[in-house]
Amino acid sequence: MEQYAIKGGNPLVGEVEIGGAKNAALPILAASVMTDETVYIENMPDVRDTNVLLSAMENIGVIVKRTDRHKVTLNASNISELVVEDENIKKIRASYYLIGALLGKYKHAEVALPGGCDIGCRAIDQHIKGFRALGADVKIEHGLIKTQAEHLRGSHIYMDVVSVGATINIMMAAVMAEGTTIIENSAKEPHVVDLANFLNSMGANIKGAGTDVIRIKGVSHLHGTEYAVIPDQIEAGTFMFAAAVTKGDVTVKNVIPKHLESITAKLLEIGCEVEEADDCVRVVASKPLQHTQVKTLPYPGFPTDMQPQITVALGLSKGTSIVTESIFENRFKYVDELTRMGASIKVEGNTAIIDGVSRYTGANISAPDLRAGAALVLAAMSAEGFSTVDDIRYIERGYEDFHLKLQGLGAQIELVETERDLQKFKLKIG
Ligand code: UD1
Repeated sequence: MEQYAIKGGNPLVGEVEIGGAKNAALPILAASVMTDETVYIENMPDVRDTNVLLSAMENIGVIVKRTDRHKVTLNASNISELVVEDENIKKIRASYYLIGALLGKYKHAEVALPGGCDIGCRAIDQHIKGFRALGADVKIEHGLIKTQAEHLRGSHIYMDVVSVGATINIMMAAVMAEGTTIIENSAKEPHVVDLANFLNSMGANIKGAGTDVIRIKGVSHLHGTEYAVIPDQIEAGTFMFAAAVTKGDVTVKNVIPKHLESITAKLLEIGCEVEEADDCVRVVASKPLQHTQVKTLPYPGFPTDMQPQITVALGLSKGTSIVTESIFENRFKYVDELTRMGASIKVEGNTAIIDGVSRYTGANISAPDLRAGAALVLAAMSAEGFSTVDDIRYIERGYEDFHLKLQGLGAQIELVETERDLQKFKLKIG
């Protein structure tokens, strides 16, 4: 079984290149089925979630060609199936983007209900509400969401909660609907804007993405395009916090600093130095970390996908910190693992009260989900001694070459598959 073996204690120093955003790439791939012409996408992250989606798309007849590791061309002119039941597709959250995309183009889609990280109940009522408002019938049967419409007609939709997934799905379903759709209280995340830009580059007419009101004028067809996915805000943020917890000095390259503002603000508050340039940020952690308070919020607030990483840092910060998780109700499961490394954290409902300790100690731990898994790797890199992190398949869902990028910054981390590999690593690090 694959796991990471880690010897902690090395400050991370150097430069790391950030890849394309997983959460932008997934809807962009799905939206590629909305044209019969060829779509060419660059800066595609080579991670498990995008690969699962690509193979599900191949299974319904999309011709997918990887021209190199980060470039892919897609042609959906010969789609043979509007039912997506692929065994793996259930495991990823973004499977539901095929509903909005296929419904928008073909007025019919049946897709296995989404999985994804187990971080809370993850309702889809807002997606369903949006599809119905556009005139589609929606039912859930035999583990599939089934949607069908004679015609899709533009509508005025008010979202009861700010949802990235529902905003994206409704946007795709509305792009080729008759008339105008207005989505109010929409999500403003960079990946929502990236999808809108992608669709507009295919001939869609979407305005207001990045604000809380999106206006979509339906068009009759979409054409092929060439498009580069934005850099991954969360991968970048994870490396920024890796610098903080290891007392390092890391330049995170190929980023959009504006997307990192809430992360940068918290790093400054806890005593790190952050320098921004056009497309990179440098984080230097030369002073002891200080306590703070943080509440996760929709963009431009502090991202829930960075909550475990900041908690790991606050666990090593002087004084008492408070982290409030306001997006998902079950996102502190990793705290038990962190406690085994010496953290002093009490979770009450959606709040973690953290008494900073001077160090963590290495332990054998398991990744409970994608972002918490990455955060536990950060904890292990900052810890005294040796750790193993199991269940790294979660981490591989969203981080490309995570251990290689960390090695490039001087971390002592190895991906091991057997007991023998593990012993070899232990001998090497002494
Ligand atoms: C996306 C991201 C995920 C990130 C999250 C919040 C992808 C593939 N995943 O997930 O990494 O953590 O945004 O930034 O992009 N909700 C409802 N009804 C709905 C939809 C959502 O009540 O129909 C609730 C959810 O339970 C949650 C909140 O709204 O409490 C936000 O969820 P949402 O923004 O939809 O998250 P995802 O799109 O699933």
